[in-house]
Amino acid sequence: MKVTVFGIGYVGLVQAAVLAEVGHDVLCVDVDEHKVENLKNGNIPIYEPGLTPLVKQNYESGRLQFTTDAKAGVSHGIMQFIAVGTPPDEDGSADLKYVTAVARTIAQYMDDHKVVLDKSTVPVGTADKVRAVMQETLQARGSKLTFDVVSNPEFLKEGAAVADCMRPERIVVGTDNDDVVELLRELYEPFNRNHDRMILMDIRSAELTKYAANCMLATKISFMNEISNLAELLGADIEKVRQGIGSDPRIGYHFIYPGCGYGGSCFPKDVQALIRTAEHIGYQPKLLQAVEDVNYQQKDKLPQFIKRHFGENLAGKTFALWGLSFKPNTDDMREASSRVLMETLWQAGAQVQAFDPEAMDETQRIYGHRADLKLMGTKEAALQGADALVICTEWQNFRAPDFDTIKSALKQPVIFDGRNLYDPERLATRGITYYAIGRGASLATYK
Ligand code: UDX
Repeated sequence: MKVTVFGIGYVGLVQAAVLAEVGHDVLCVDVDEHKVENLKNGNIPIYEPGLTPLVKQNYESGRLQFTTDAKAGVSHGIMQFIAVGTPPDEDGSADLKYVTAVARTIAQYMDDHKVVLDKSTVPVGTADKVRAVMQETLQARGSKLTFDVVSNPEFLKEGAAVADCMRPERIVVGTDNDDVVELLRELYEPFNRNHDRMILMDIRSAELTKYAANCMLATKISFMNEISNLAELLGADIEKVRQGIGSDPRIGYHFIYPGCGYGGSCFPKDVQALIRTAEHIGYQPKLLQAVEDVNYQQKDKLPQFIKRHFGENLAGKTFALWGLSFKPNTDDMREASSRVLMETLWQAGAQVQAFDPEAMDETQRIYGHRADLKLMGTKEAALQGADALVICTEWQNFRAPDFDTIKSALKQPVIFDGRNLYDPERLATRGITYYAIGRGASLATYK
């Protein structure tokens, strides 16, 4: 089937590559000439496990192509995916200018029936806006061409995007026209082999499903972070509590890991956007606001521990930082807890020596060259001469470090761990002062 994907970001590129991999004929369109040229030369703009070979193979086979020519994109596919960004505007609402621009482009150049699929995370009611923009554009052309608008949200996780897209848990399809269902079944047939993963519903329910999923997961995390703060004050260990509640299948083990706050391109933005949507229709969402507030507070947890230990003025202190990306297996720094940490440390006069397996280029791009930030080649190099170690991201190779090396490299044997990677008792016996999240039973955090 011929498919066009507008927007070569995380969602668009992964979806396009996976659709090409199963045999569809996919053309990706982006306004960024540089990005398109790079992709044609096999340079993938993001770090995502498994994506580079998938893109290269499918590009070489001709099933996956890239262009900046929007007109060619519109004439290529019966299926027209909109996978452009929906960044937050000043008040946190999702900004739809890129989505509506693509809708206008499709209507401007189409010369037969098109099925327009919204892949971007968009507020409830966006499909109606897309439809209105397209109708207006077609009318201005004096055209009577028809089209369908479908809500088809994406649920992939960064770091596991290819696998999530190849083996989706569900394919949510919101449509008001039964006639397009057969086309969508054909498109997604390769992903429905073992059992039908398509969940059909009306458009608005599909749009809300995406926000509800992300907000539910963010709620679980903020809930655990709140309980971890209680555990710290009450002298309990959140890791024991986590296991204790996770064993109840109604609660489950997923997404109940406490930490130094959630980040990324989705949770912070989507929680805020749903709050704004609710407010626009006169509903004050108390729970969602609390989820957001707890997360904001949680990102300040490590800086608080550091100031509790070293005092408010950190001038002359150097901190080794392990982990910059908002989570492992990505170079994405959007809303990363490490950013709040570094910015607070710098403000208090401290220096940072950071290491991350993938996100150092991105960190350099964001912060440029500055005297109080050194990006080090290895996690061991980051430790040298630092006053303490801080951990913001749970990359696998941070899980079992050589604690003797850490002790001898640091001026003081102190670890501030935002991801609860280590056993507090084991560290205590090695003479390391250990601050972690919600581990009130350990000495460092419960005094
Ligand atoms: C998320 C959703 O999981 C995905 O379904 C959706 O399509 C996009 O948003 P992503 O942002 O890639 O995916 O990352 P995810 O793995 O969900 O982690 C988000 C944040 O939550 C990270 O900062 C992570 O560290 C944090 N997190 C996650 C916790 O603090 N505790 C947990 O138990 C799980």
